[in-house]
This record gives sequence, C-alpha cells and structure tokens, in this order.
Amino acid sequence: MLSGKRILLVIAGGIAAYKVLEVVRRLRDRGAAVRCILTRAGAEFVTPLSVSALSGEKAYQDLFSLTDEADIGHIRLARDCDLVVVAPATADLMAKMAVGLADDLASSVLLATDRPVLIAPAMNPHMWRNPATQANLATLTARGIRRIGPNAGAMAERGEAGEGRMSEPAEILAAIEARLAGGEPLSGMKAIVTSGPTHEPIDPVRYIANRSSGKQGHAIAAALAEAGAAVTLISGPSREPDPPGARVVHVETAREMLAAATAALPADIAVCAAAVADWRVASAASEKLKKTSGGPPSLVLAENPDILMTLSASGSKRPRLVVGFAAETERVIEQAAAKRLKKGCDWIVANDVSPASGVFGGDANLVHVIDAAGVESWPRASKSEVAERLVRRIGDHLLQRSKGIPVP
Ligand code: C5P
Repeated sequence: MLSGKRILLVIAGGIAAYKVLEVVRRLRDRGAAVRCILTRAGAEFVTPLSVSALSGEKAYQDLFSLTDEADIGHIRLARDCDLVVVAPATADLMAKMAVGLADDLASSVLLATDRPVLIAPAMNPHMWRNPATQANLATLTARGIRRIGPNAGAMAERGEAGEGRMSEPAEILAAIEARLAGGEPLSGMKAIVTSGPTHEPIDPVRYIANRSSGKQGHAIAAALAEAGAAVTLISGPSREPDPPGARVVHVETAREMLAAATAALPADIAVCAAAVADWRVASAASEKLKKTSGGPPSLVLAENPDILMTLSASGSKRPRLVVGFAAETERVIEQAAAKRLKKGCDWIVANDVSPASGVFGGDANLVHVIDAAGVESWPRASKSEVAERLVRRIGDHLLQRSKGIPVP
C-alpha cells in the first residue's frame, strides 16, 4: 500500500522529533520514498545527517539556499509528493499554518502545497489546551487537514503529564496509510458523536451509572474521522482510548454531555450512541452520605435532558442527519421504530442488549437500522465493522441528498 508512494515529511522542533526517524525508516521499509524538510528548530533535535541517511535523500532546510532551489525548488517540493506529513507538528508551526505564514522553507511549502496534509501534533499539555492552539487546530481541521494524536501520557519535562505526546510511529504509519487509501466521502463535513455511559453523582464518591463501554460510539467516531469528517466525540467515562483523528470532549453527566453537544453545533451529522442515564439524583449531596440509625436515605430522582431529542429539534442548527441508538431487550424493532418518531431523529440503530446477546461490553453487535423507509437488519458483526458500515451508509445518504436524489 505504501510502495511507490512519495511522502514529504516536515520535521519541526520538538523532542518528539527523534520518533520521526523511526517513521522514516518504516516508511522506506514499506517501499515509500521519503523526502524530509527540517525546520531550524527541528535541526536542534535531529541532525540533517541522520535524516538524510535514513531517507536516502538530502534533508531540505533552507528557503533561500541556492543549492536547494536549484535542486528542486520549494514549489516543486510542495507538489512532488502524494502526502505531506508534519511530525512533530509544534504549536508554533500549527499557528503559522493557520495564518498562512511563509517565512521559512517548511511553512512556505505548507502554504504552497496542493497535496493532502496530515499533522502529528506534539507539545506540552498546557500549550495543546491553550485556546490559541485549539482555535488553530479548528481552522486547520476545517480546511481538511487531518491529524493523528496527540496521545495522553508523560511528557519529556519532568513531572508533566497530559495530552500532548506525539503519536507513536506505528500509529503515524497507520494514519499515513489510511490517508493515502483516499476515499474520504465525508471530507468537509462536521460530525458530533456521543458515546459511553454517563455518571450521575449521588454524593462526592458515589454515582448512578450503566454498563455501556463506549466501544460502539468510539468506533463510530473513528470511522467518521477515517471517512474525512471533522469529528467531535463527546465521551462519558469510558476505558476506550480516544480515537485517532477525533476531537474528544470528556464529560461525566448527561447535562455536561448536552452542553458539549450543543456547543459543537452546527454539524452535518450527529450520532448519539451514548447510554445516557435517564435520571439523576435531584440534588446530589455535597458531602459523603453516612449510614445512620434512621435507615437508608431515599434518593429523589430528576429526569435528565434528552440529548438526541434536543439535537433533533435544534431548528436551523439541526444536523442534516441525526442518528440515535436504541438498546432494547425485547420487541427490539417495534420499540426502536416508536423511539425514532418520539425522538425526532432520522435513523435509529436498534440493538438487542438482552443478557443472552452479549452485546453490552462485548466486541460484537447485532443491529437493525430503522429509517422512514423501513428496517434493514444487519448480520452479527464486530462493533468496528458496524461502525464502518454505518458510516458508509451515512456517506451514501448525504451524497445522494446533495445530488438532489430523494432519500428517506
Ligand atoms: O430513550 P433511550 O435512552 O432508549 O434512547 C436511546 C437513544 O437516545 C440513544 O441514541 C441515546 O444516545 C439517546 N439519549 C440521549 N439522551 C438521553 C437519553 C437517551 O441522547 N437523555
């Protein structure tokens, strides 16, 4: 798949640059041709000699170098490739890309290129979370620039940890392969996905929850991102890792999930796969509840907001396609069809979660997709296969709709 492909790799100045040497080696092992641009700061972390030894080409560094320009010229450098990869993508280089600065070879090439671009951000967690970086990221994403990572974990700075570690070489390689595989039917579209359970506090240490793992919702977010959509995944507490390519908002309660979902509007697609708790404790105790001789406390419940229903009724901001899930243990299709009408969504993906089905927490799913036209029953498949098939159906639906073909 990588054989014969030409990758232009821009190496910016971060400690993660050392991992990029491994990416170069693996790309070449798989038959890709790799040409590297080193920024001035990048050259402080890896040497032009190691980059050129591994890539088998000179390391390009200087916009005003007579030899570089005579050799290939920065415009050709920007175009003579199948994919531009920026790794590590530092906060500084992302900012330059977002505003279109072109004051060195790397930024000029990134401004001049007409090839797809993949970035692998790497920076301190505070820099990553800074609204300036997030705004730059949103700008780049809206322009179709894809990203892999960053991951959460320990930083090179002693005692620092959080989101900002560059993805591992194997993950970057997989993202390069996926990007080159092309076929991005949802490119330019925005999607919101809810996933996982919610936790509704009883007191500071106890909560009401359910058995949802988040596997299906996370797989859908990953598949949507893979198909080129700009994805905001709103995840309740889940052990699932953040899917590559999605912006993930971590929440605990239904009310937080709703706030994050409406803040992510407008969007083209919404998929509500979260198992939102129907009720919360009306007034959670601010201190831990104690056993008393008066017997157990009675919990007064209040109804949670319905996120799916709210998104389905969001007026001019309503996503073009709203998909809900219905986990049922009996009369699955009948109940799900009624739920579609009640919630006002376009499709309902119904799954049988009776204990015998093994769906909850398991890797497989057995679903029926219900829309205005009827019911489509899918064979038992892994949750990622279900996600991929659902995303293909979403792509087909939106494509037909944009061509004016009537669809349910
Ligand atoms: O009503 P029920 O929980 O069975 O509906 C399931 C669907 O509604 C799922 O798509 C779920 O994500 C969504 N839902 C929601 N907010 C709620 C309850 C359910 O978005 N408060």
